[in-house]
Amino acid sequence: MGPVVVLGAAGQLGSDLCRLLSERGVRHFPLARRDLDICRHEDVARVLGELRPSIVVNCASFHHVERCEEEPERAFAVNALAVRHLALICRELEALLVHISTDYVFDGEKGLPYVEADPVSPLNAYGISKVAGELFLRALWPEHIIVRTSGLYGRRGSSVKGGNFVHTMLRLGREQGEVWVVTDQALSPTWTADLAWGLWAVVEAGGRGTYHIVNGGWCSWYEFACAIFRFKGMAVEVHPVTSDHFPGRARRPRFSALESSRLGELGLCPLRPWQEALRHYLSGQDVP
Ligand SMILES: NC(=O)c1ccc[n+]([C@@H]2O[C@H](COP(=O)([O-])OP(=O)(O)OC[C@H]3O[C@@H](n4cnc5c(N)ncnc54)[C@H](OP(=O)(O)O)[C@@H]3O)[C@@H](O)[C@H]2O)c1
Repeated sequence: MGPVVVLGAAGQLGSDLCRLLSERGVRHFPLARRDLDICRHEDVARVLGELRPSIVVNCASFHHVERCEEEPERAFAVNALAVRHLALICRELEALLVHISTDYVFDGEKGLPYVEADPVSPLNAYGISKVAGELFLRALWPEHIIVRTSGLYGRRGSSVKGGNFVHTMLRLGREQGEVWVVTDQALSPTWTADLAWGLWAVVEAGGRGTYHIVNGGWCSWYEFACAIFRFKGMAVEVHPVTSDHFPGRARRPRFSALESSRLGELGLCPLRPWQEALRHYLSGQDVP
């Protein structure tokens, strides 16, 4: 069996996945953007051709929602066209392609957690570009796993977002003693270490097609912030506000929580509840 190649390996999920693969003794090549830009198609073909992986995991993405609205060409290049090209290369190499997608493929009108079979209806350039990436992959190479997830936080933080929601709340809480957070958008907060574990479990179980992998349950960003400060033992005043308090160009789904109706087919359980994962994450010494 050839090695595993992890693209976008310096990100929150990519770094946690590489840590997991190291712990499991799985031979893998972590490639950050400085090693391989997935938009440079000739480089991608050459590098993957040399490494001859059995599995490619694409954790690379342009997912700053507001910036995707301003730079739709870049969003499409990274989140859709690069995925199309990866699918073609993986088909040539007969490698499994594991690709990460998002809750933002949905419009949030369902009012209940979305399952894999629900129809997509993205509201913004980011979501549209991610749907396009999914469609290219499904159309071109059946040996794939698409993992949709939501509300990620991890030790590394996301460079394009300047950290993640947990880090931002902790910083603002320390600096200001109060924060304003929206009550009218709900999500499934998910720790990238748990996601990496779930993703690899699907690979090992031989899954194919689309899976939702998130920590269990859902909450509003406001409830998420309250839990962060409660678990951290910080006295920070959290003011509930609605989305119009933070005007932006991108429309966002009001309720984009996910759940899986497919993990059971593989004999896998859902990930632990989000509160348990968050408490565990915040107990770590290296949380900023
Ligand atoms: N974060 C969330 O809340 C969230 C929610 C739902 C789904 N997702 C999806 O989950 C996946 C992982 O997210 P994450 O939070 O781990 O992201 P992240 O921490 O921002 O990592 C993404 C990585 O992709 C790299 N990258 C960007 N453009 C690239 C390119 N052209 N070539 C190669 N690498 C490139 C970035 O490198 P640089 O740092 O050098 O730019 C970064 O290291 C993504 O597919 C995302 O769409 C994320």
